[in-house]
Amino acid sequence: MILGILGSAAKDSVTREILLRAGERVDRANGGFELIDLAVEFPKPHALEDYDAPPPGSQTALLRARVARADGAVLATPVYHGSYSALLKNALDHLTGDALAGRPVGLIAAGGGPRGAGTACDQLRTVVRALSGWAAPTHVATTAADLTPGEPLDFLDRRLDVLVGELLSFGTSSASFPVLR
Ligand SMILES: Cc1cc2nc3c(=O)[nH]c(=O)nc-3n(C[C@H](O)[C@H](O)[C@H](O)COP(=O)(O)O)c2cc1C
Repeated sequence: MILGILGSAAKDSVTREILLRAGERVDRANGGFELIDLAVEFPKPHALEDYDAPPPGSQTALLRARVARADGAVLATPVYHGSYSALLKNALDHLTGDALAGRPVGLIAAGGGPRGAGTACDQLRTVVRALSGWAAPTHVATTAADLTPGEPLDFLDRRLDVLVGELLSFGTSSASFPVLR
């Protein structure tokens, strides 16, 4: 199962639409896709006192359990001031440093302008590395204009095909992966 983690709280979120397009591809390949809408399911700020031993039922425990069940993840963020969203960072701050060990992670960012989305993906790469995950080489850095039917949308879809292909072809079992703690 691939877990899509949505870092936008916007009502008509462009990021959500693009993440769901990735999810459709995962489903079509029988990979199984689950969405976490952080603004709805995990909106509370990270509680530092929960970090070492999260109380059962706490947001930290619930989020960690969802991530632990996944075979891989897609992190999807709007671009805010040249970076990824605080909502997504807050969620990632709930996780331990081995949370994504041995698993592939796809990156999607949606910006309002032509610059910034690639930077947000690159910044997320460093966070994925800190969580011991394997960021897929192809990210999807995009804008709302890419959802225009025709050549822009076709090219967006082709990039999503490649991103999901990379995720699903990552065949190593996390159980056999060495992790330096
Ligand atoms: C606080 C804030 C800061 C933003 N900063 C940038 C930016 O630096 N670069 C950019 O391209 N777009 C920026 N935008 C525009 C959003 O990235 C754009 O509207 C995006 O589509 C939002 O995604 P969403 O619809 O999924 O929330 C910003 C938007 C907000 C609200």
